[in-house]
Amino acid sequence: MDEIKRDYVFHRDLTKKYPMITHGEGSYLIDEQGKKYLDGCSGAVAANLGHGITQIAEAMAEQAKKAAFVHTLRFETNVLHKLAEKIGNMAPLHLNKVYFTSGGSEANESALKLARQYHRDAGKMQKHIVIGRWQSYHGNTIGALSAGGDVKRRYPYTPNLLHFAHVYSPYCHRCPYNRNQEDCVANQNWSCITDIERTILELGPENISALIAEPIVGSQQGAVVPPLDYFKKVRELCSRYDILLIVDEVMTGFGRTGTNFAVEQFGIEPDILTFGKGVSAGYAPLGGMIVHDRLIQGLLENSSGKFLHGYTYSGHPVSIAAGLAALDMYEEMNILQNVETQGAYLMECLVALQRKHPYISDIRGRGLLIGLELMKDANQQIFFEPREAASEKLNEICMELGGVFYPGSGSIDGHKGEHIIISPPLNIAKSEVDEIVRLLDHAFSIFHQHIRKDESYESAK
Ligand SMILES: Cc1ncc(COP(=O)(O)O)c(C=O)c1O
Repeated sequence: MDEIKRDYVFHRDLTKKYPMITHGEGSYLIDEQGKKYLDGCSGAVAANLGHGITQIAEAMAEQAKKAAFVHTLRFETNVLHKLAEKIGNMAPLHLNKVYFTSGGSEANESALKLARQYHRDAGKMQKHIVIGRWQSYHGNTIGALSAGGDVKRRYPYTPNLLHFAHVYSPYCHRCPYNRNQEDCVANQNWSCITDIERTILELGPENISALIAEPIVGSQQGAVVPPLDYFKKVRELCSRYDILLIVDEVMTGFGRTGTNFAVEQFGIEPDILTFGKGVSAGYAPLGGMIVHDRLIQGLLENSSGKFLHGYTYSGHPVSIAAGLAALDMYEEMNILQNVETQGAYLMECLVALQRKHPYISDIRGRGLLIGLELMKDANQQIFFEPREAASEKLNEICMELGGVFYPGSGSIDGHKGEHIIISPPLNIAKSEVDEIVRLLDHAFSIFHQHIRKDESYESAK
């Protein structure tokens, strides 16, 4: 009881003590003891320009002084137009209207509802089921969680979830369909694609409103990139069966993978593209969706131009000002070039590190979104047991050493499969990449000692 009274914060883990951060400088966070943490994951792949940027802080303060809040049901602001135009111009050709939310989960909720309303108002009353993919993440609100395939996060809420369908994504390195990538490509017979079509036909296309997918799977699989033609095939199926394709770029958007949006690399246009995190470089809660002209036309023709949805903080002027300042800075800094250069360099260093530390069983990703898969023994194909929490343990060691990454588990079947994501700020310097690699090298050596200690403890039992 005393403990409860001493700390009024409802922490994510009530049993844990968190370092108290007092401020940030560039790629570092600094705690009250003066200890520095190299932010090797941009917080949650959000603080994409690092910390302490006065240009963004000042833009937010300026806007707060002018008009901190207006309700988008009745008013609009200049910054709202400027940011929407900027994002519309970055997006694929026919995606032009931008709807704002306070983050990624709300963005995906909005997309799921828009898909339903669009079909319903066009007279397709039955269309309501969403197809998601296992080992993917779209947010923690009930709709987004139902669409996602994060087994551990879904499990406690199973009775509350919506009846959506799920297929497997193309995780070719450990294909859930037990196929071989070269074979799939050579024979143009992809199980991950035929499974989508089978699911559509089993449920009936007249019942399905949308399919949602991350272009590169983030937190759940640790930066797994699909084969080049995968999304072309998904797009083709969605168009054939009148199903909207929602691409979730909450983690990958705004340069993280080397292009403004990752979907550009796969040569398709989704019907809705959702975003969050990097849009404001983490300086304010912001997210949203960019919507295809065809859907907007549909709303104008069939719904009197009204989308029956909205949040108090949609289009919040201070968050929008943060977004505008962040996108200006990405442009001024020519961030895509830095992502390409430092991403390639980081990848090269990690490949060298793998030779030294065989716990790294796979390295994947694009740009500055890189995943390391961890195995107990890659040669003998021995996985870490989920109870060993290997990726968490590795990250705790990194934090002791003054760095932080994004650990994850369950990449293979929701339980098995450990990984960490390395996703530093997009303006990272080469010397800081070197520091990340040195830190990981040191951390893996300590990690090795822990594993050996655990093994000798187990064998002595
Ligand atoms: C791909 C993806 N979609 C959606 C979300 C949810 O975003 P938020 O936490 O801002 O609600 C996340 C968050 O990690 C994400 O990575």
